Amino acid sequence: MIREGNVLLNVEIPEIISSDMPVFYNPAMVVNRDISLLIVSAMEGENLVVCDPMGASGVRVLRFLLEVPKVSKAIYNDINQRAVENFKENLRLNQIDQSKVEIHSEDASLLMRRLRNCDYVDVDPYGSPIPFLDSAVFPVKRGGILSVTATDTSVLSGTYPSTCIRRYASKPLLECEFYHEVGIRILIKKVVEEGAKHDYAFRPIFSYSYKHHFKVFLMKDIGAKRTDQVIKNIGYLLYCDKCLYRESVSLENIKSSCPFCGNRLLIAGPLWIGELWDREFLQKVWSLRGSVELSQETIKILKAINEEGYINSVGFYTLSALAKVFKIPNLPPKGRILKLFEGKQTHFTPQGFRTSISHEEFLRRVQSVLLRDSRVNTQA
Ligand SMILES: C[S@@+](CC[C@H](N)C(=O)[O-])C[C@H]1O[C@@H](n2cnc3c(N)ncnc32)[C@H](O)[C@@H]1O
Ligand SMILES: [Zn+2]
Repeated sequence: MIREGNVLLNVEIPEIISSDMPVFYNPAMVVNRDISLLIVSAMEGENLVVCDPMGASGVRVLRFLLEVPKVSKAIYNDINQRAVENFKENLRLNQIDQSKVEIHSEDASLLMRRLRNCDYVDVDPYGSPIPFLDSAVFPVKRGGILSVTATDTSVLSGTYPSTCIRRYASKPLLECEFYHEVGIRILIKKVVEEGAKHDYAFRPIFSYSYKHHFKVFLMKDIGAKRTDQVIKNIGYLLYCDKCLYRESVSLENIKSSCPFCGNRLLIAGPLWIGELWDREFLQKVWSLRGSVELSQETIKILKAINEEGYINSVGFYTLSALAKVFKIPNLPPKGRILKLFEGKQTHFTPQGFRTSISHEEFLRRVQSVLLRDSRVNTQA
């Protein structure tokens, strides 16, 4: 018997977590569930209906019902009958009123294709969410939130570019220091695109990357004009590996050489070039952090996002990229670097910081402070 949040679970946790487990429960995914609870807590309205179409042990559904008072009903589904039995057992164990749950056991895509009016849907499959995305845009109601987890992060981040192009119709970029962020932006693009086909305007309001997964949350609106507005945020990333120049551009503005050093630019996309966090929503999530029992890891991620989330930039810089590209062997400590570049820690990597200063200004400070200090130090 184990406990997560307020929920008791009767599951076996083997030494190696894999999809071969009779009923899937991954304790490392507590961050994923914690954040989903916070997001729903920050939603408007009462009597919310949440859906976990790949529910496994049902831990997420149970936590929603026990820890988020505004959730009044949960729809659980899993294609695996053993998972369903285990969920029913966990329902009894936590003394949850049966009338608050609707249980299905079928293919998640078929269920989502006919389900409607959910306030929140959480697509959390093994591996890539691609097989489920074309159905996942339907069950969420206007103003509701669709969340998608992807564990094929190495594909999205550029280790297997041809797989990414095939699956997500987008070119990733392993060569840049913020390749994970590029991956998240490709995932968002894909969800936005799936919705746009049906005049659904999905807009990301919260995203994060943690260990082996990405998770994105998108709010749904409906209408051709609104959808046209949203898809204006799909574009391309230009990147220079000689001076770290990066810029997000629309198709018409793609160029081939770096405006700062003339080097041939690398390109990624199409991908989401708008914001990753909605500021108002982020504020609300942050203010509600005490309302849900959160793991230490979740708190760490939230803290960083609460800093970087207010800076609108595509990409971030890292200490190692700075040291390598500008050949500075003895970088000052991180605190000084953050100050110099007006940087905020990013949750993507402890090495990285986001800033709203322009790349021109960034290069000027590299030259006038970092390179000068480094020369002085070497001479001394
Ligand atoms: C990663 S687990 C889900 C974990 C769960 N959402 C949680 O928070 O703990 C994936 C689950 O999807 C189920 N599954 C796999 N393919 C499915 C399909 N096509 N339709 C419905 N469920 C499926 C598996 O049986 C497994 O329980
Ligand atoms: Zn350059």
